[in-house]
Amino acid sequence: MSYQSLLKILYARKPIFDVKRAILSAPVRHIFMIATIWFLTAAAKKDDLHILEIGSWYGASTLSWAQGLELYNAARGAITCVDAWSAFFDMNVHAEVDYVRDMEEALATDAAYNIFLHNSRTLPQTIQCQHMRGLSQSILPQLREKYYDVVFIDGDHAYDAVKEDIRKSMRLVKEQGVICGDDLNLQLHECDVAVAQEKKRMDFVQDPQTGKNYHPGVTLAVAEQLGEVSSWAGFWMMQKQGRRWEKVSLKGMPVVYPKHFPDDAIRAAKSHFEDIAASIS
Ligand SMILES: C[S@@+](CC[C@H](N)C(=O)[O-])C[C@H]1O[C@@H](n2cnc3c(N)ncnc32)[C@H](O)[C@@H]1O
Repeated sequence: MSYQSLLKILYARKPIFDVKRAILSAPVRHIFMIATIWFLTAAAKKDDLHILEIGSWYGASTLSWAQGLELYNAARGAITCVDAWSAFFDMNVHAEVDYVRDMEEALATDAAYNIFLHNSRTLPQTIQCQHMRGLSQSILPQLREKYYDVVFIDGDHAYDAVKEDIRKSMRLVKEQGVICGDDLNLQLHECDVAVAQEKKRMDFVQDPQTGKNYHPGVTLAVAEQLGEVSSWAGFWMMQKQGRRWEKVSLKGMPVVYPKHFPDDAIRAAKSHFEDIAASIS
């Protein structure tokens, strides 16, 4: 029996997120993904809202984008997911880290890919969801220039990879569209720059200046390519305005929780959101 048949028997059309490592990032960030669609459709619904996602894993962010489309764009739009769904961590620097070992196993066994396939098939039929399995570095140059309203970057978090994903994505964003990403726990002006440089191949480390854990590769690459960016709890975004990339305001945004999240992730998102609500600009 195939993986897909088994998942269909066990879960029917219910998405699978009640398993370990299904939601990798801080759950609160998905509120901002949904709000991004609210922001882009505030003036008018769009006939053809195109979203490109780099790094889909089990599909948690894919389903959050889709929820934004359902709520604010009459369930219309297209989501293209780019992911290699194959082991990618540099095990010379990450071998002892629990979450890395779990991710590598789920990728190497194709469990991650099959859960993504199952989850993406639960979307409404009015939302076209296609996936391209391969390395973003090879796939992004093949995609249509100035075509996407949203390009979301959440693939490999090592510096060289994030830098290339941002550089290759910038040309894909249409006028007034946004480039955004996950896991900007600290911006470069907030952390120890020398340590960020030294650890830029590592996924997640502690910043000695703030004591916070962060992704030095994301922090450095975002700062180099875009400078200081709009950011809410680690979800970052900039809007294309002619030749410039401008910050975005989400003030007044509706607060919507991802309906595909299990209860513990909703609780975590709510509590985190309450802590930062007053500072949203
Ligand atoms: C942090 S996870 C994505 C999480 C997802 N956005 C979510 O919210 O659930 C990173 C994903 O990027 C993929 N990835 C890593 N390096 C990649 C590369 N060079 N090209 C394409 N995908 C890559 C991995 O297979 C993994 O699924």
